[in-house]
Amino acid sequence: MTTSKLNVIILAAGQGTRMKSSLPKVLHPLGGTPLLGHVIKAANTLTPAKLIVVYGHGGQQVQETINNDSISWVEQAEQLGTGHAVNQAMPEVDEDSIVLVLYGDVPLINSSTLSDLVYQAGDDSLGLLTVHLDDPTGYGRIARDAHGKVQYIVEQKDANSEELEISESNTGILAVNGSKLKSWLSQLKNNNAQGEYYLTDIIAMAVRDNVEVKATHPESEEEVLGVNSRSQLAHLERHYQRLQAEDLMAQGVTIIDPSRIDIRGEVTVGKDITLDINVILEGKVSIADNVSIGANCVIKDSIIEEGVELKPMCVIEQARIGKEAIVGPYSRLRPGADLAGGNHIGNFVEIKNSNIGQGSKVNHLTYIGDTDMGSGVNIGAGTITANYDGANKHRTTIEDNASTGSNSVLVAPIKVGKGATIGAGTVLRKEAPEGELTLSVVKQKTIEGWKRPVKKKT
Ligand code: UD1
Ligand code: CA
Repeated sequence: MTTSKLNVIILAAGQGTRMKSSLPKVLHPLGGTPLLGHVIKAANTLTPAKLIVVYGHGGQQVQETINNDSISWVEQAEQLGTGHAVNQAMPEVDEDSIVLVLYGDVPLINSSTLSDLVYQAGDDSLGLLTVHLDDPTGYGRIARDAHGKVQYIVEQKDANSEELEISESNTGILAVNGSKLKSWLSQLKNNNAQGEYYLTDIIAMAVRDNVEVKATHPESEEEVLGVNSRSQLAHLERHYQRLQAEDLMAQGVTIIDPSRIDIRGEVTVGKDITLDINVILEGKVSIADNVSIGANCVIKDSIIEEGVELKPMCVIEQARIGKEAIVGPYSRLRPGADLAGGNHIGNFVEIKNSNIGQGSKVNHLTYIGDTDMGSGVNIGAGTITANYDGANKHRTTIEDNASTGSNSVLVAPIKVGKGATIGAGTVLRKEAPEGELTLSVVKQKTIEGWKRPVKKKT
């Protein structure tokens, strides 16, 4: 059993040339979070005493994006190999620690796999994460002796034909005592096919120094797959999405097609929720019991309460949808839209920074912005709150049980009193009194004998 404290080193200096991108590779998102963010999250589940990230290409951007004060950042100016990279971090490493080496571009590593590996390392052994691959091309191979004991790792480019037959491959992830690691790193040479300082060469040194190498394996291959190209990124994205879909289904969510859902953040769910195809959930989304979400809805940082029905094609951001509301199809709720419950929000309706009272309905072709609306209100088709005077935004108040006719324009700041009715086509510039009908008087005229123009013959 280990008593040492844990130091984690994450290697993230690689160029990522095959991504063909100006964004550093480790910042490419997987499920909405940078690759490196996933690795940091996995590392932090082990509560390390130190978390060191070795950066190279695009270092400043990486630090700014990750923006985490508990990380020690170490630069590797020239990429001279994985051993060289780890060595750059060694001045930061605690004397009596166990060092866990992770890769910033291997995002789906499980925390249970890591804690098992660290446990295997104990104080006196080296824990090495290996995997049997159908196609080990490109990976370092694990050479064992006749008794099955790990002897050394040979890189693909340095391997002989016999070694190339080995399917057990190096994931690159390992854990070992910090001072032993330090002394082995100082002995590394770069006289190999790639002219690099290979971290993998410490395995043979451990064996030489009678340090037992204990190999452990991940639960699935995807845990240890790295991202070197956009194609590999897409493969891991789908795998990650599948895992999240499985997790939701295990919690009692019906997902019509688990291969057509995307979760880019943290979702909390109740029971008996149905998610139709192509739903995208971003940021922090909570969905209560008996909610149904139609096809192609995009929901970001929002709260969906019990029994809500979201019809297809809705875009919801930083909004709350209260119990039993029916929203969509084609509704857009923007930041600050707060629906009390029992509402009907229909097609081509946009609501921003507004409180919509219990049971109020906004069914067609409407913009409601910066508005406090009471309960039982009915908003007619094409109603617009004109909240912007070209310089400042103003609020609109619509009290309980008011009703607006089609094509009303409510010029804010303005108030529509309790139970007031606004006639169709009204441009409301002054308060509409409680209980009364208020309308713009637009004169209607018929031009008798008027003829439509006819097309001239040429
Ligand atoms: C390395 C291993 C190989 C293993 C493979 C798993 C060595 C010598 N080889 O291969 O046995 O099967 O990973 O993917 O360790 N990095 C730096 N600085 C460097 C070089 C690399 O930070 O100078 C980082 C990269 O950003 C990456 C990781 O180290 O996150 C691995 O580098 P990469 O070049 O992908 O791996 P290989 O050297 O091909
Ligand atoms: Ca390499």
